[in-house]
Amino acid sequence: MLKIDVITLFPEMIASAASFGVLGQGLKESLLEVQAHTPREFASDKHRTADDRPFGGGDGMIMLAETLEKTILKVKHKNSKVIYLSPQGPVLTDEKARALAKEEHLVFVCGRYGGIDQRILNTYIDEELSIGDYVLSGGELGALVAIDSLSRFIPGVLGHGESADKDSFSEGLLEHPNFTRPREYLDQSVPEVLLGGNHAVIAEWKRKVSALVTLKKRPDLFLSYLEKENEAYKNLKKKKKGKPLDELFKFWQALSDKDKKVLGLSELSFWEDFHG
Ligand SMILES: C[S@@+](CC[C@H](N)C(=O)[O-])C[C@H]1O[C@@H](n2cnc3c(N)ncnc32)[C@H](O)[C@@H]1O
Repeated sequence: MLKIDVITLFPEMIASAASFGVLGQGLKESLLEVQAHTPREFASDKHRTADDRPFGGGDGMIMLAETLEKTILKVKHKNSKVIYLSPQGPVLTDEKARALAKEEHLVFVCGRYGGIDQRILNTYIDEELSIGDYVLSGGELGALVAIDSLSRFIPGVLGHGESADKDSFSEGLLEHPNFTRPREYLDQSVPEVLLGGNHAVIAEWKRKVSALVTLKKRPDLFLSYLEKENEAYKNLKKKKKGKPLDELFKFWQALSDKDKKVLGLSELSFWEDFHG
């Protein structure tokens, strides 16, 4: 079972936010464990100080090395991966979340104020992790984002029939649009193919719609997907179908105007970039 220790000045934030939804259920069922610890526990003064002014001046306070070190040593063992949430780290991806879900023990260190003493980084941090190119006031939301996304890859956390492998990014594509009852709403109808009950046809249709949605919303992801598809096509001995992009274009052309509209695929301005 994956154990996660979060080092933070605000442990209540972690316990509270992690208690909802599939993550909260996963914790109740002991599919993973999350515990928060505060460096204040190791502060020796009556104010339980865990930060101080930076040497050389500058804005904000810096989290003290000693209290942080003692907290890290309290939880860390030889198989731990210690991660500092930081705007300077590589940005969290689906692939990274999958990899983190396979670890035995994660320690997330959350900075506050101006960050943490560099010597803690040099000595104890195995890697830095960012959740995006912007600055948060603390690492807690970053740790929670990482915990939420990795927990989806822990077997049993998602409910029956749900799988993270069908979500956006899992095959390098965004997910297709979804619909539920009623069939007609706001003058728009659910595409006929989804009502037909032919699972193989539906799966193939969803995959192609996913590719089109990715082309429209994330041309950068679509390009990587297309490169892989082209490579696979090149290696095919018997080519029963046309090139992947030509086949996708044919599929899009064959969609009715009504379906294109309800899928948000009426206009695909990036066709020329890939096709031309
Ligand atoms: C105000 S920030 C400190 C930023 C630091 N002075 C810098 O410029 O790199 C306070 C804390 O928020 C967290 N943090 C800020 N932005 C983050 C991001 N994009 N991803 C993950 N954690 C972040 C880090 O733990 C950081 O120590």
